[in-house]
Amino acid sequence: MTNLRIQAVDDDASIHDWQYVHNLIIPGGVLSLVDVRARTGRNRMEVAYLGDTLVGCTTVRPPTGDNRATATVIARVLPEYRRRGFATRLYERALGQARALDAQVIETVVLASNPDGLRFAEQRGFTEVERYLLRESDTVPWINLRLT
Ligand SMILES: CC(C)(COP(=O)(O)OP(=O)(O)OC[C@H]1O[C@@H](n2cnc3c(N)ncnc32)[C@H](O)[C@@H]1OP(=O)(O)O)[C@@H](O)C(=O)NCCC(=O)NCCS
Repeated sequence: MTNLRIQAVDDDASIHDWQYVHNLIIPGGVLSLVDVRARTGRNRMEVAYLGDTLVGCTTVRPPTGDNRATATVIARVLPEYRRRGFATRLYERALGQARALDAQVIETVVLASNPDGLRFAEQRGFTEVERYLLRESDTVPWINLRLT
């Protein structure tokens, strides 16, 4: 745990690693490298390593003028490294980044099929605000939760 190394997504290797974690955890929302690169231009994104081993990633979507100072904070940890406190560390760090960006409202987003993610968010004070399908063909809704 003390070896957890967290770094910004700012080069090809970290972009690949962030993409790997994202696409493994969200197989229904696979992102291309072009998609990920584009996101680095608007989001704060980090990857986490245990020594040299990739364990997780984060996304902070900053507040914008049209979303009433709402930031979205997401922590993701690869299945084999869960329940060791890594996501808690990633989440707390990302939350600090969102606050530093002057976010007045903090949200997160979890797939309804992910009970671990829902419990993780609820245990940290988030409550559901809406659920929706991104595409008509989707069967599992996303759930937006807000820190209260
Ligand atoms: C949700 C998710 C991030 C949790 O990752 P994780 O690394 O297992 O999270 P943590 O280890 O920090 O905490 C998970 C639980 O393990 C517990 N835990 C932490 N260290 C532990 C240990 N050494 N032994 C046993 N349990 C432990 C925590 O108390 C926590 O319990 P809680 O959820 O009831 O509060 C992970 O399942 C994931 O990536 N899901 C997909 C993405 C997602 O849904 N993200 C949530 C939006 S923020």
